[in-house]
Amino acid sequence: MSAHAPTTRLTLSDLAKKKDAGEPIVMVTAYDHPSAQIVEQAGVDMVLVGDSAAMTVLGYDSTVPITVDEMLMLTKAVRRGLTRPLLVGDLPFGSYEASDELALATAQRFIKEAGVDLVKIERGGTTVDRARALVNAGIPVVGHVGLTPQTATALGGFRAQGRTAEAARAVIDDALALQDAGVSLIVVEAVPSEVTAALVPLLRIPVIGIGAGADADGQVLVFHDLLGIYDGPAAKFVKRYADVRSVSVDGVAAYAAEVRSGAYPASEHVYAMPEGEAARMRELLARPVAGL
Ligand code: KIV
Repeated sequence: MSAHAPTTRLTLSDLAKKKDAGEPIVMVTAYDHPSAQIVEQAGVDMVLVGDSAAMTVLGYDSTVPITVDEMLMLTKAVRRGLTRPLLVGDLPFGSYEASDELALATAQRFIKEAGVDLVKIERGGTTVDRARALVNAGIPVVGHVGLTPQTATALGGFRAQGRTAEAARAVIDDALALQDAGVSLIVVEAVPSEVTAALVPLLRIPVIGIGAGADADGQVLVFHDLLGIYDGPAAKFVKRYADVRSVSVDGVAAYAAEVRSGAYPASEHVYAMPEGEAARMRELLARPVAGL
């Protein structure tokens, strides 16, 4: 980003303008202060503190176990690292589905405590009612359709959705219902590109794809996937733009080797006492300590 890049927060109308101009919207996940600073510096438009944090950062084997408090801690750290991109908080499994009141209470915590601009919730169905309740309460919402990891078991596992005409219709109907409920944006995950190509012209709001082809209005990827930090199996749609994990392992291994060989710390890493102080210290230490 240039030194003169704008530092004011992007708005939803900036995203709408990008959609109208056919300018792709760039979204990425982040989970802590340094990753927020990195994605800000890289010039992305939106940052999602995804519940993928459960797997990428906290070591759970799905997104289901992560709690609201865990998500809030991560989201607050990201907020402190961001100025320009819009920040989306992901409401975790079990924190919004049961009632409008629960959804509202959780979303308000993300806004008050973590300063998010929007909250994301998964699925169509009853989630459409939750989305409407949040929007009516003045909270901007991102819908998430297609493969919805929080309910992946019910969808037959982590696999592409909408692969038959009927299944594609169901994904598109979910997105349309969420738009009618007033959501500001749709994330569509792991669907054939034909589904996205059919969906985008039907919606006024921007569609952000992840594993949904090139026809979406923007793309989102998981920070740890695109940088090659996450060690688990990668989905078909993941492209690795860097190999940060092996660079990191090499760095730590070089440190370990130098500690073991005595090469680290070298003289330039060591503090020194002012002239004469070391001699005075030795003198002091040589005196008997009172009471011993
Ligand atoms: O949790 C997450 O990171 C997500 C994105 C993959 C869209 O929901």
